[in-house]
Amino acid sequence: MTRPAPDLLDPDKIKVNLKTKRIGREILVYNRTSSTNDIADRYARDKRNDGLVVFAEEQTAGRGRAGNKWHSKRSDSILCSILLINDILNAELLSLTFAVAVAEAVGKPSRSHAKIKWPNDILLNGKKVAGILLEAKPHKNKKIFIVGIGINCHQQKNDFPAELQQTATSIDIESHSVTDRIHLAKRLIGSIDHWLESSEQNKQQVIDRWRSLSIQLGHRVTLLFDGKKFAGNCTGIDPEKGLILHLDSGAIRMFDAAHTTISK
Ligand code: BTN
Repeated sequence: MTRPAPDLLDPDKIKVNLKTKRIGREILVYNRTSSTNDIADRYARDKRNDGLVVFAEEQTAGRGRAGNKWHSKRSDSILCSILLINDILNAELLSLTFAVAVAEAVGKPSRSHAKIKWPNDILLNGKKVAGILLEAKPHKNKKIFIVGIGINCHQQKNDFPAELQQTATSIDIESHSVTDRIHLAKRLIGSIDHWLESSEQNKQQVIDRWRSLSIQLGHRVTLLFDGKKFAGNCTGIDPEKGLILHLDSGAIRMFDAAHTTISK
């Protein structure tokens, strides 16, 4: 498939017909930066910047969960961060809400169902297409969350490092077409705005949607919690305490996203 001239992100184009209430009132696009999360952090002092969305065509120090690096060639992905100031939701529910919002935004253009692998991976046909990094940054008397999102759009298999080629994918690969990143950016902002409002009004809606998109619910999960291994059947999600496992020992236990790494 030949790739057209890069569909460069442009705040004015993203804002056309964007009818969101909170997210994307201000949109910034950087050509190149260390990490969009770092840029969002610089705006966190002023509460009028709540809902700011920062995009970058390229990151020189993109980061993922658990200290991993997040690599993407220039203009191949959606790389963005959302700044939330004094949000009423807790980190666990925010993480669920963003997973649902990103899965819905990614699912439509790829014409297949995106699924959620708790806590922060979005999968297409079983392979990771997007990741979410939620950073809590308490500033004096404000509660700040910066939510970084990376969505693989134009990558082909060989663009991923050898060790990721069996487990990573892009929307272009799965849809056999070329993703319009501006359209996807608009869908993403709309979806986040919608699901954040839903979560504030009735968190059960988000939980129900998460349950319908989860690949782990009803299945065996093995994880590391504070470095210790646990295994059991996933029976649900708690909006404050995280993933619920019916452990092999018979006990029922919850695992929060910040201290957990999924092994299988
Ligand atoms: C993960 O799956 O480990 C989370 C990856 C999050 C990557 C995005 S790209 C935009 C934002 N800026 C960063 O440095 N990281 C997030």
